[in-house]
Parts: sequence; C-alpha cells; structure tokens
Amino acid sequence: MVETYQKGRRADDSSAVQTGQTGGKLVLNAEGQSQKQTISMKSQGKAQNEKTRRNLVHNHDSENFQKKEEKVRSAAQHVMKFDLEKENIIEPMVLPKADAIISALLLDMISKEKEDYVKYLRRFSKLLKPGGHFILIGDLETTYYTVGKDKLHAMNYDEDFVRKGLDEAGFVIDRCEVKERAAVSDLTDYKHVMFIVAHKKM
Ligand SMILES: C[S@@+](CC[C@H](N)C(=O)[O-])C[C@H]1O[C@@H](n2cnc3c(N)ncnc32)[C@H](O)[C@@H]1O
Repeated sequence: MVETYQKGRRADDSSAVQTGQTGGKLVLNAEGQSQKQTISMKSQGKAQNEKTRRNLVHNHDSENFQKKEEKVRSAAQHVMKFDLEKENIIEPMVLPKADAIISALLLDMISKEKEDYVKYLRRFSKLLKPGGHFILIGDLETTYYTVGKDKLHAMNYDEDFVRKGLDEAGFVIDRCEVKERAAVSDLTDYKHVMFIVAHKKM
C-alpha cells in the first residue's frame, strides 16, 4: 500500500510537469509551426511513456501485494474481534503479550475526541511486550469520510498530536513518514497520510 501510493504520486507529478507546463511554455516561445509540432509530439510521446510506465508499476505492485496478502493470510492462525471501548479490548480473552500490532486507518475514524485516541493507544500498548512493535497508519487533518451515501465523522489531528500521544501511551517512535495527499476525490478530505513504526518502552 505504501509503495503504490508513493509511486502513483510521483508518476502523477512528473506527468503534470512534462505535459502541462512544457505545453504552456511552447505557445509563448514558439518560433515556427514545425518546431511547435515536433515539441508537442515529443511531449505527447513522453506522456504516453509515462502512462505505460505507470501501468507497469501498478501491475507490478498489484502482483506483489497479492503475494503479500497470500503470505499474511496463510500465516494468520486465528482471527478475533476486538473492541477498543473495552479496557481489555479482546475481552473475555486474555492472550500472551504480542510482538507487534498494526493499526491502519482505524483510530482516526473511531475517536470522537483526542483523549479517546490516546486512550486507545494505551489499550493497544497493554497487549504488547516491552520492546514490541507498533505500526500506526492514519490520515492527517481529516474532517469526514464517506461510506455509500453517508458522510461520517473523522477526527482532525496533526503529526505533532500523534507524536505526543504515542509518548504519553508509552511508545518510542523509530520512524515516521508523512506524505502529502495525492488522491483527487471528495469522498474524504485528509491532507496527509502518516506512517509510523514505534516500539513500546522497555
Ligand atoms: C475505516 S474502517 C478501517 C478498517 C481497516 N483498518 C482498513 O484499513 O481497511 C474502521 C473500522 O473500525 C471498526 N471499529 C469501529 N468501532 C470500533 C471499536 N470500538 N473497536 C474496534 N474497531 C472498531 C469498524 O468495524 C471498521 O472496520
């Protein structure tokens, strides 16, 4: 998911430069019709190449992700429900402490207030071994997302808030990447996507 997203964005950005900006300058600087046509054909060729390259990247990533999905599915031994509203989120079960937990696009959607977000981080932390890894993926500066015809609440927060929240919940951040939004859609209004790898303090 991360790779597809980044590669998709770079591809869009470079094609905008090649076709849009070069084309605009051409009209202003043109010395003759033939030169205009040649350059314009070159830029069409570049756009076509870019499209082909993007398709190849997309297909390659899709294959990789199918393989990764199969690997994860075959490694999963149990699937359990959990409820972050409960102090023990897997109640009534009690499990040995985990090596790693991944939370993707979840806390943004279910937290009503910022206190909820930090409370949920603490609940995840309780399930982890000291030193265990926590991978957190979320959308920054979002106010809503859409499911079908319903426009649903999302909590609006920034990177600074998450950094402080993770610290309060007993995590140390090993890596944090924040990517600017590339998608063009009004289904949701997030501005950035954030990827964090952290570990529970010893
Ligand atoms: C936007 S979806 C994200 C699903 C998934 N993480 C993904 O990336 O596709 C939000 C999810 O939060 C779950 N959810 C809502 N309330 C919850 C709670 N109290 N505890 C745990 N999960 C909850 C919903 O069932 C839903 O699957």
